[in-house]
Amino acid sequence: MLMMITMMVVQAAAGEGRTYEYKSMQSERRNLLANGLANTPQMGWNSWNHFYCNINETMIRETADALVSTGLAKLGYKYVNIDDCWAELNRDQKGNLVPKKTTFPSGIKALSDYVHNKALKLGIYSDAGSLTCSKTMPGSLGHEEQDAKTFASWGIDYLKYDNCNNNEIKPTVRYPIMTKALMNAGRPIFFSLCEWGDMHPALWGSTVGNSWRTTNDIKDNFDSMMQIADMNEYYAEYARPGGWNDPDMLEVGNGGMTKDEYIIHFSIWAISKAPLIIGCDVRDISKETLNILGNREVIAVNQDRLGVQAKKVRTEGDFEVWAGSLSRYRVVVLLVSRGPEPGPITAHWDDIGLPPNTTVVARDLWLHKTSSQRFAGKLTATVASHTCKMFILKPVA
Ligand code: GLA
Repeated sequence: MLMMITMMVVQAAAGEGRTYEYKSMQSERRNLLANGLANTPQMGWNSWNHFYCNINETMIRETADALVSTGLAKLGYKYVNIDDCWAELNRDQKGNLVPKKTTFPSGIKALSDYVHNKALKLGIYSDAGSLTCSKTMPGSLGHEEQDAKTFASWGIDYLKYDNCNNNEIKPTVRYPIMTKALMNAGRPIFFSLCEWGDMHPALWGSTVGNSWRTTNDIKDNFDSMMQIADMNEYYAEYARPGGWNDPDMLEVGNGGMTKDEYIIHFSIWAISKAPLIIGCDVRDISKETLNILGNREVIAVNQDRLGVQAKKVRTEGDFEVWAGSLSRYRVVVLLVSRGPEPGPITAHWDDIGLPPNTTVVARDLWLHKTSSQRFAGKLTATVASHTCKMFILKPVA
């Protein structure tokens, strides 16, 4: 009992420190980005990982329909984000961006009305350079105010801002110009920085954007996904309500990994407080994929109000223990076997931040079962090759 009380006092003190830090960061940020968004990581869908440039207004509308009919929207996947290739190569005579006539003939405002009618939000894409990465449309460099106003007038809720063709001007110079433009646009617009981790955006992103890419583009295979997870983990301390590390969008459902590998992918993104942006075709989603992306308990970890990004706390060869604090004195633990062998993997309390004498019950978030057994000091599970075990440990008196 004494241990429990000590633990609570320690955790409450840590919590207070955090609140203080958060408040001072908030005031520092006030000049630039104060849009009140991203209290928890953003959730939604984006066109790039599955469709690349093959997009049009019909499939965006159908995707919005599918997010609702599958139940994903209700689970929190609210942003419908159009990526690269939505605009004409040339601006109009007044310098405005023009939606591509062949693929978005009704314009973006019509699309945002459609999406808003479904209680969803519409995201768009631009680039802090002269052209976007596909080079099929202009970037916003030198047109930040004008483009931000255009986006606001169309009812845009989210901007992903890429880093191609940037005239070698530093991102720390180019991105804040758009931050200010968005703040003056007259509508809260979530600002997703996509400079690929080039200049360690975790170190400056919280005053500029609501999330920042920490890595290069994800590929739909296990090695790429794990490599990106590792790179993103390095910046864990910088994630907090209002601004999140972004290890890129989800590949779950695109076919390049096994079911268990996708479960690892989704679990790591959830504990890392990463944006949960679906990257598959939700109009044609399998039951298996829906079960992964729709796991409420895993989503709840991602959306936990404490907003603490989990860390890799122990590595033994190919066996890893990831852990992070959750609200109400709980801890989320992920045991991963990333090599060819199965193994018993042990989470020790002193590695995962639980006081030594704490007794817990363990909730398995993929089996949806709470242990009848109680655990003290450590928890060991057998983890097959390329699979994981994900638990919430809840202290019991
Ligand atoms: C970059 C980004 C991707 C995607 C493409 C579009 O590579 O990192 O996420 O937006 O550009 O061209």
